[in-house]
Amino acid sequence: MKSLAVLHASQLVTLAGPKRPRVGAEMCELAIIRDGGMLIHDGKIEIVGPSDQIGKNASGVETIDAGGRVVLPGFVDAHTHLVFAGNRLDDFERRIRGETYVQIARGGGGIWSTVEKTRAASDLDLFAKAEKHLQWFLRCGTTTVEAKSGYGLTVDDELKILRVIRQLNNDRPLEIVPTFLGAHAVPRQMNADEYIDLVIHEMLPRVAAEKLAEFCDVFCERGYFDVEQSRGVLTAASKRGLRLRLHADQLTNSGGAQLAAELKATTADHLEKTDEQGIAAMKSAGVQPVLLPGSVYALGLLDYPCARAMIEADLAVVIATDFNPGSSPTASMPMILSLACTQMKMSPAEGITAVTINAAYSLNRGDKIGSLEKGKLANFSVFDCADYRELAYWFGIPQVHSVYVRGEWVAGDRRGDRHYN
Ligand code: NIG
Ligand code: FE
Repeated sequence: MKSLAVLHASQLVTLAGPKRPRVGAEMCELAIIRDGGMLIHDGKIEIVGPSDQIGKNASGVETIDAGGRVVLPGFVDAHTHLVFAGNRLDDFERRIRGETYVQIARGGGGIWSTVEKTRAASDLDLFAKAEKHLQWFLRCGTTTVEAKSGYGLTVDDELKILRVIRQLNNDRPLEIVPTFLGAHAVPRQMNADEYIDLVIHEMLPRVAAEKLAEFCDVFCERGYFDVEQSRGVLTAASKRGLRLRLHADQLTNSGGAQLAAELKATTADHLEKTDEQGIAAMKSAGVQPVLLPGSVYALGLLDYPCARAMIEADLAVVIATDFNPGSSPTASMPMILSLACTQMKMSPAEGITAVTINAAYSLNRGDKIGSLEKGKLANFSVFDCADYRELAYWFGIPQVHSVYVRGEWVAGDRRGDRHYN
């Protein structure tokens, strides 16, 4: 039973508040403690408060002096495609020359090219690549990631990816929440209905029996899976006990948000093309929007989702990286925060809420992570700045000082600053 004290954070950004996702003006309430600290015992937070109070309870306890830096809950990244082989550098150059995501997909690039490389890779190879990417996440201050399958598209290859995710979760400090995204693209030599049949009758039973995923997701989009096909997969997944997420209205307003609402999905993700009806439907069903500005940025597009309208409609907005080799090759939540502020006009405080407590609730973990409160896991990051707003302001500059999961150092600088009280 190890104890640890953290003292002298210029701002201990706790996000303490109601035990539910935050909406409307609540998204600006970060419950900051100035010159704050925490006492941690056995990986969990025991006391949160001003440093002088924590110091009194910490005699003989190993202490980290945050030295006037900002301390935040570890970021929770609620949408990633973590496991894949290869890269999409060719797509990147083709986009620069003016081709669109859809044109590139039709012309031999896109999701399919990553599927071919991922099928050819061994599980050991995929594990090593994903491990490297997890290190990127940790170094950017993220301590929990959702991770989707979806670059296998055969029974064996989808299971291979989900098993790699399970193994990573066992071996690495960062917690990974698995999502089955068998319906990510239609494999060559099959039509969408045939493939949907395979997903429902052969993949889902195996995924559920081996408990390889907590969530099921579908890419609901013209040229991928339409509303009816998406409904079929998600309804079958729900019957097998999986919760639901949905890639919705990314490239076209195709009724994805309404479908997420109809099925009481936990989240609808992307939403670049969602209109007022879609927002109203999500509100009435309690669906959390997961906005992914990294994919708009990296595809060189301009139509960011309407975050302001969603916040004004009292939706519990989440933002995430969408880490993947095609549309969003970044693991950097600080970069996503910058985009949220500059492109979607979210305030820095709203951004922080969207990547911590709201994201935690969207992964069904709001009772364990996402804020610095008594009883929660001691997952936190120390940033080399004095004001949390600097995270989104100094864009492209690494400001992470050090990262802790369950009270254990996992990334960044661990020199100095440590002593015994
Ligand atoms: O969320 N839109 C579908 N899936 C990913 C892109 C995957 C890829 O291009 O490899 C996304 O943007
Ligand atoms: Fe995605």
